[in-house]
This record gives sequence, structure tokens and C-alpha cells, in this order.
Amino acid sequence: MIGNASSRPSWFIQIIFTAITFLSCGGRAYGGITSTFIRSEWPSVDIPFDNEAFAVPKGDNAPQQVHITQGDYDGKAVIVSWVTPDAPGLSIVHFGTSPERYPLSAEGTMTNYSFHNYKSGYIHHCLLEGLEYDTKYYYKIGEGDSSREFWFQTPPKIGPDAPYKFGIIGDLGQTYNSLSTLEHYMHSGAQAVLFVGDLSYADRYQYDDVGSRWDTWGRFVEKSAAYQPWIWSVGNHEIEYMPYMGEVIPFKSYLHRYATPYLASKSISPLWYAIRRASAHIIVLSSYSPFVKYTPQWMWLREEFKGVDREKTPWLIVLMHIPIYNSNDAHFMEGESMRSVFESWFVQNKVDVIFAGHVHAYERSYRISNIHYNVSTGDPYPVPDESAPVYITVGDGGNQEGLAGRFRDPQPEYSAFREASYGHSTLEIKNRTHALYHWNRNDDGKKVGADSFVLHNQFWATNGRRRKLKKKHYLMSLVGQTVAY
Ligand SMILES: [Fe+2]
Repeated sequence: MIGNASSRPSWFIQIIFTAITFLSCGGRAYGGITSTFIRSEWPSVDIPFDNEAFAVPKGDNAPQQVHITQGDYDGKAVIVSWVTPDAPGLSIVHFGTSPERYPLSAEGTMTNYSFHNYKSGYIHHCLLEGLEYDTKYYYKIGEGDSSREFWFQTPPKIGPDAPYKFGIIGDLGQTYNSLSTLEHYMHSGAQAVLFVGDLSYADRYQYDDVGSRWDTWGRFVEKSAAYQPWIWSVGNHEIEYMPYMGEVIPFKSYLHRYATPYLASKSISPLWYAIRRASAHIIVLSSYSPFVKYTPQWMWLREEFKGVDREKTPWLIVLMHIPIYNSNDAHFMEGESMRSVFESWFVQNKVDVIFAGHVHAYERSYRISNIHYNVSTGDPYPVPDESAPVYITVGDGGNQEGLAGRFRDPQPEYSAFREASYGHSTLEIKNRTHALYHWNRNDDGKKVGADSFVLHNQFWATNGRRRKLKKKHYLMSLVGQTVAY
């Protein structure tokens, strides 16, 4: 095994083994890093209710907890959601392309729910449709002196070379570490968040505080989520199966508060769906909904993969909560059930990258697969596989459960980099062949890049297609010269 220095055999065996492994990876270096970075951290406690991070906006019944998400399949619609605390108010969004001028409006729906004795505010979801691509929109919600104004930027039109920068955040919670992650993320320049589950950690509370902690979290993320879409996926902390409180409907709080455009991708559940944005096709899976063969999620995913068009959206990204490859002691092997069902599809469809959370640490895998494993004769170990995705765990948002600091020793061969620090990631798509990936640890106020690489597209970066692309660009440049002359 290749792992920590302390676990290595003699230098001779190590050299031989490294050479074999290097060759079996097609020449790519293969040996994981367990970061030795020493961090100082704030205690893993939630920020108090009365802290300014959760400030209630001024004004009678003023809209709060404002957040947006993509509202259709291709990025020409946005769902605006908010809560009015004391009275229903109007479910209307006024919007337009100039500040303080709102020639357009859309009417949404209002809902509320109870959780034990807690009664939620009035939760509004409003779909803004028919938007122009690559355009800044300003919007206003609420009435009179209590109205509030925000803005968002629509993505570029779906296209193979449309550049776009995504952020990836998971297991965020509402501690001072969460605040640090959010603030670092907001300086990253990313345009939309791919959120990999476990939002508020409100289920760590009991009785009425559960609902109240969803409210504080909604106000906490508003400074980002009201201005750019957060693409939601669910984690275990959204389930909230709490029979001792008489609450047994899974995902009750989450489903009332966080809308997703699941119907646009022909899903039957808000918990799993897909969107296309710029040059990316993003598939959101639910680790906590049935996914074995013939279940709705399985049948839906099979169809969704058939519809992926890498000529239009070269980047194929999957989000889920439980990581499939992870070498932390926390939640080790929990992703094995989904791996056994979906991994062969991920490989066949050449998924570029899979982001997950759940484990409160950072980890990145090599391109490996274990699709030849079977319970009687197959090889049970993951092997290098150039068609496999890179698996990245970003469950390090900073929630009150703290860091998962114990990694398995030695570091397994499939693990490329791992570190138990808080942070977030960004994926900056440059064109159809290349994207820049960064993991940023919070590092107590300083932004320090800790793991980064160039991600080559699994469809377009093959030699044959790259040559074809070069030839096409060369021919187009000749045409351009002819026109210029
Ligand atoms: Fe989790």
C-alpha cells in the first residue's frame, strides 16, 4: 500500500511498487498526500441566536431568509424564495434589468408548516421565467417601507465553451467556522454554489428550536444566496425523523423551505433532479431516497444520462451527500451501497467529477473504479480507471459537529489528497477541455490554496477529439483570415 511515511515498507520495495503503480496509471504519479497542516480553530458551537450574523431585517413583516436557485433546466428561470414572519403578505416579485425599476412581476405560492409546537413563518416561492442569458436582474420583494431589493446574474447560454465558476460547499451549519467558510467563499468570485447537503444542522436541537435554527440559517446564508443560485442537494441532517417529538415526515422543514426545479428534468422528487448551466450538466442525487434497481431515482437517472449531450454541455458533474470514495474513519464505507448501484454508469458516461459532503474533512481521489468487483470472484479493490470520475469530498463547511480528524492509516491507494480543515472548493470551467479546481481552507482568516489541479474534460480531452478540435479551430482561423483580408 502507498500511504504515510510511517507505514511504508523498505525503500527498495517502495521504489518497485511506486514504479509499477506509476506505469499502471498510464504514467501519472500515484501516491496520496495526507496533509500535515496544523490549524487553529474556533470551537464548534453555533453562533448565538441574537448575533448579527442572524440579524432580522428592519421593517414590519419584512421579507427575510431570501434565497434563489435555478428555476428550469437550462438557466433561463430563477426561483426566488423568502419568509415573511408575521403575516402572509404578497407572493410577488417585481423585477427588471435596471436598479429600482421593475417593469416585470411574477406571482408565486405561499406555504407554511408546523414542527412540534413551532409554527413557521409564511414561506414564499416565486418562479421568474423567460429571463435573458448573461443578464443582470434586479428584484424587489415585500411591501412599502418593508420591501427589500436584491440582484442576480443569469448564466451564459448553454454552450460547450461557456466559461463558468462554481463554488462547492457542504455540511455548512451555523458556527463561527461556518461563517468563515461563507465569507471566504464570497471572496472566491464563484457564480453559483453546488451545495452537497447538510444545511442548517437544526436537527441537533429539540422542540421549537429546530424550526428557529432553520430560520437563523436562512438569514445566515442570505448575503450570498439572495444574489446567486445555490443548487441544493440533501443530507442526513435534512431528514429530521424525530418520533419522540411526534415528527415523522422526512425532509419536512427542508422541502417547505428549499425549492428545486425537479419537474424540469422530469424527476418526480425535489430531492433528485438535474440542471444544465453554461457548459455543465449537473445531476443531483439523493443519498437518502431509494436508489436500488427499478426505484424511481434509478429509473430517472438512467434516462437523465441518456439525455446528456457533451457537444452542448461537456462538463458532467454529479452531486450527492455520502461520498463513494473516502478514507476517513467517519462514515467509512457508507457510500458502498450507492457505489454498487451507480458506479458503472458513472464510468460508462465518463462523469468528470463527483462532489459529496457528509465527512467533515476534505479529500480528493484519483480516477479509480471498482466496477469489476463482485461477491464471488471479482477483484474487491479499486483500480486506476481513466474513464472514472474524480471523487471529491467537501464536507468541511464548519458545522457544530466539528472536524473528522481521523483518517485511515495507511492512506489507501485511491486517495490523492486529504486534510481535516474547514473550507470550500471552486471549479472554474475555462472551455470544453479544461477547468481549474481549487480547494481553499479557511485557515483562520487567510485564504490559502491547499489543493488545486487542472481538470481535463473526460469527453473532450481525449486525444482523438482534441486533435479534431484543434483542426476545426485551425480551419476556422483560416476562414477568419480570409474574411479579414
Ligand atoms: Fe451528513
